[in-house]
Amino acid sequence: MLKVDSIQTKYGSIYALKGIDLVVNEGEIVTIIGANGAGKSTTLNTISGIVRSLAGSITFNGVDITHMPTDKIVESGLIQVPEGREIFPNLTVLENIKLGAYLRKDKNIKDDIEYVTSFFPRLSERFNQLGGTLSGGEQQMLAIARALMSKPKLLLMDEPSLGLAPKFVHGIFDVIKKINEQGTTVLLVEQNATLALSVASRGYVMETGKIVLEDKAENLMNNESVKAAYLGF
Ligand SMILES: Nc1ncnc2c1ncn2[C@@H]1O[C@H](COP(=O)(O)OP(=O)(O)OP(=O)(O)O)[C@@H](O)[C@H]1O
Ligand SMILES: [Mg+2]
Repeated sequence: MLKVDSIQTKYGSIYALKGIDLVVNEGEIVTIIGANGAGKSTTLNTISGIVRSLAGSITFNGVDITHMPTDKIVESGLIQVPEGREIFPNLTVLENIKLGAYLRKDKNIKDDIEYVTSFFPRLSERFNQLGGTLSGGEQQMLAIARALMSKPKLLLMDEPSLGLAPKFVHGIFDVIKKINEQGTTVLLVEQNATLALSVASRGYVMETGKIVLEDKAENLMNNESVKAAYLGF
């Protein structure tokens, strides 16, 4: 579904990505793990076109999207939930959710609002509350719900558990699994590598702008160097 071939991304004169190759097959949850500053967010941002690669190519469902405008990338079904909580604080929860369908050609979104909020009942209790007054965990739920409204084929998620209480963290990962079971492919970046590998089928390990290891999630979980560096045991 997604093929990333030798992408290189620079900020100023510094290379954040030094030639990244990765593949995501339809139906998978794939995770990228790595330390702070390794280039995980840059990888997702390059795939979704927020920053641009200087070399290499990105192919999505057989189409070269390397230089495609970001709105066209979104329209083709590749959607990113950004790191942090980029919801609209002065719009209500329901308005935020509806905005996710903005680029869709079909405007029959009523059933989809029900579908996406079925993952987050807490949001449907708060449709008229302003986004900015939601708790941190609720804002994260809203960001995911909004992304789902655009009917993603491939969902890129950057640190969905960031800043969440443990109770919410498990809730979010349950939702990621459910979203995937309903047919959405997921590429997931996560500091909590143990949890990420527990939901993923495969994983890539990044160090300073390069992929240093790639394997089935269960093999990575049992890999001694991965355990020592990223799993905290
Ligand atoms: N807009 C930017 N301008 C300049 N440098 C940047 C910018 N964004 C990221 N970088 C640098 O690129 C490198 C990779 O950053 P990136 O955000 O991709 O890392 P990350 O793996 O997502 O880290 P974290 O786990 O902390 O989120 C870092 O050295 C960072 O300082
Ligand atoms: Mg990051």
